Amino acid sequence: MSTSISPKPISFSGIQSSGIPSIGNYIGAFKPFTAYPQTHKAYFCVVDHHAITVRQEPKDLFENSYGVAAWYLAAGLNPHECTLFIQSHVKEHTELGWILNTFTQMGELERMTQFKDKAARHKENVNAGLFGYPVLMAADILLYNTQEVPVGDDQIQHIELARNIATRFNNIYGDTFVMPKGVIPKSGARVKDLQEPTRKMSKSQPGPGTILLNESPAEAAKKIKRAQTDSLGVIAYDTENQPGIANLLEILGGLTNRTPQAVAQEFEGQQYGALKGAVAEAVVFALEPLQAEYTRLMSDKAELHRILAKGADDAREVAAQTVRKVKEKMGYVLA
Ligand code: TYM
Repeated sequence: MSTSISPKPISFSGIQSSGIPSIGNYIGAFKPFTAYPQTHKAYFCVVDHHAITVRQEPKDLFENSYGVAAWYLAAGLNPHECTLFIQSHVKEHTELGWILNTFTQMGELERMTQFKDKAARHKENVNAGLFGYPVLMAADILLYNTQEVPVGDDQIQHIELARNIATRFNNIYGDTFVMPKGVIPKSGARVKDLQEPTRKMSKSQPGPGTILLNESPAEAAKKIKRAQTDSLGVIAYDTENQPGIANLLEILGGLTNRTPQAVAQEFEGQQYGALKGAVAEAVVFALEPLQAEYTRLMSDKAELHRILAKGADDAREVAAQTVRKVKEKMGYVLA
């Protein structure tokens, strides 16, 4: 049965609870997610099992798991309008992940760019979980009959793999999984490092090129003003020749719901300083209320826990049905 059960299309996305999210996560994920509950049956997940593929301090994992939940809510998600939960609270994720391992080829996983990047950065701990990471992500998505997966551009390759896994299973056992598709925002799908605008801004590589969501807005504004640009002196959206300017246009576009081209048009003929000033102002304008709400939410973990427990109860119902269906088709003896 590959048709959706809900009258609204189903969406699913997740954010890892490893470290403090960056403004890249906000523009590529948290912010665009807030539009989903109006049009979709939307699931949002705090992805803790994925976080442990890189070694985490226990107290940090604990704090950051509540933290990601709080950032989701601070960005504007209403928990009554979507399903917000922690991945490890729904055991079906690891169960389906195990099953899907047997439908995934080593060669496919070896081609994943994120694996290659992370393996190079964590040479001392290239563990099997890091290698199998995209299989668990496929399970996350396929458990909920997901049609749309809102993500930043770096996750598209993983979603393609999820589609391949689903197709392989469906070809063997008949229509079981719904085919998901990745959806990226029109601006800021890959926010770049402010100092090295040819690489992605990453929360795991903090420094002058990265703005984390808990950073002081004044410090964030300084980082924008010191962002690397070029000597051409022309404001245009040209990712090839002007990656620094293109990145600032993406950031401002993402924060103000416009395409980078539209922002470029607005600033045509102006100096880089004017653009940087406007980006800095938009970043401060976004961070201030976000941080105030985050702090408020984190001061009541019991309430956060209640929200997440309710979300896990809802998610589990659907996830259990999917796992049951999969096991039945494969010939497992059901409990
Ligand atoms: P994660 O935790 O690395 O990132 C969370 C989301 O933020 C997006 N993102 C960015 N967007 C724009 N610019 C950036 N510089 C930037 N950096 C990160 C990511 O694309 C992502 O949408 N594997 C996933 C988590 C995951 C997941 C899933 C996602 C697990 N299961 C199922 C979707 C569906 C990840 O590591 O995201």
